[in-house]
Order: sequence, then C-alpha cells, then structure tokens
Amino acid sequence: KNTGELRIHESVDELRTDLADYVAELSEASVKERGVFAIALSGGSLIGLMGKLCEAPYNKTVDWSKWYIFWADERVVAKNHADSNYKLAKDGLLSKVPIIPSHVHSINDSVSAEEAADDYEFVIRQLVKTRVVSVSEISDCPKFDLILLGLGSDGHVASLFPNHSALNEREEWVTFITDSPKPPPERITFTLPVINSASNVAVVVTGESKAESVHLAIDDVGPDGPLIPARMVQPAMGKLVWFLDKLAASKLEDS
Ligand code: 6PG
Repeated sequence: KNTGELRIHESVDELRTDLADYVAELSEASVKERGVFAIALSGGSLIGLMGKLCEAPYNKTVDWSKWYIFWADERVVAKNHADSNYKLAKDGLLSKVPIIPSHVHSINDSVSAEEAADDYEFVIRQLVKTRVVSVSEISDCPKFDLILLGLGSDGHVASLFPNHSALNEREEWVTFITDSPKPPPERITFTLPVINSASNVAVVVTGESKAESVHLAIDDVGPDGPLIPARMVQPAMGKLVWFLDKLAASKLEDS
C-alpha cells in the first residue's frame, strides 16, 4: 500500500509554512517542465492553511500567471454563496495573488448537480486536449500536477463519503451526489480514478477530531479494518504527502 510521506508538525503554524513551501516548489517544478501548473483545491480548513502563499516571499516568487485552478469538490450552490468552495478560495487566496481570471475553473452554478458534474468533466476534457492538464499514461484520466484534499472526521475526502456509491465510480471523472452527510447535500466531486492519477496528492489535516480517521487511513488496520475513503487515496504513479499537525497525528502507531 502506498501510504505516502508523513509530514508531522509541532504546530499548525509550522504546517502552514511547510505547505506553502511544498505548493511553491511543485508549482516551480511543473512550470519548468510543462509551462503550466494545474492545481485542484478542496474546501474546508485547507484554504486557511494555505494562507502563507499570499504572503512574502511566495506572493512574489510564485509564477501565478501559470496557475490553472480547479476544485476536487464543490458544493452545488451559487458562486457567491457562503457555502461555495470557490468563494472560500477566492476570498482567502485567489483574490490576493495575481491569478489570471480565465484560468480559474469554477463549476457552473446555474444548473443541477448532475449537469454541473457533466459540465465540469467536459471543461477538464477540453483542457486535457490542449495539455493544460496532462493525461495519465496508465488510466487515460487527467493527471493534475497537484490535488489538495482535506479530511473529514468521518474519513471523507473531496465529496467522497464513507460507504457511498460515488466511491465505486470508475468511468466518470467528475460525479455528483445529492445526499452529502455534511451539508450542503448537493455536491460534485472528482472520482477516485482522477485523484489517484494525479502527479501529487496532499492530504492536509489538523486537530484531534481527525486523529482517528488519520489512523484508519494510514495505519495497518488489517483486512477486516474499515476502508474509509481517505484510505483509498493511493496514487498509482504519483506522490502522496500527508500534512499533519501533532494532534491529527496523535493516534498514529509508531509516531
Ligand atoms: C468540502 C471539502 C471537504 C473538506 C473536508 C474537511 O467541500 O466540504 O472539500 O472534503 O475538505 O470536509 O473539511 P475541514 O478541513 O473544514 O474539516
């Protein structure tokens, strides 16, 4: 099993610095290699934890004009709604750095969840054709340069919730749900094949309420242990990194 690299931090502030360094380094490497950086964000506490990217030195050193922004999951609400992951990222990050507006790929917020998922997949397909997003050699899925995920205390990542049929989706790149246990109920989400085709996946987790899920996602829980969604994040070729604070890591064995 690809458990990935564990980066356990004494404090949330240290984690924030390490995360900003990590994203800035991947951006630089990707721009050097492909001329662009295709990054997918999630919602929740992640955006606040990325906040150092808007500060010196990153705000000046990162080549923001090469960033293409996507969402690993989004709530199906208006773009200016308090629940929108787009709005969260715009207010907390994107409006503070010189991103090119046409590179920001938010979802269509004026259609049903099903249509929004289809539309989003279509947009990604166009950008795969033009190689803004690379393509995986093994799965034909888009290969994002970086997918950033948070972790729910129930073990969900993106909008892939425990025991939900969306976890079994193998054909679609983007799917929809209308029964999210975490409100709001209607969401679209990258599927596991897309997450696991990325060049880099980072799961960013802080706080004690997530410690049990971190343990169940990473430690050997045996063949009969629960298979929480975060445990299914196993990039086939890409690199997985866990950013944890001490509290989130507190139930890991051997740490
Ligand atoms: C969402 C998120 C979701 C989030 C986790 C963790 O839209 O709700 O993308 O997957 O990352 O629920 O959220 P917190 O970090 O706020 O606990």
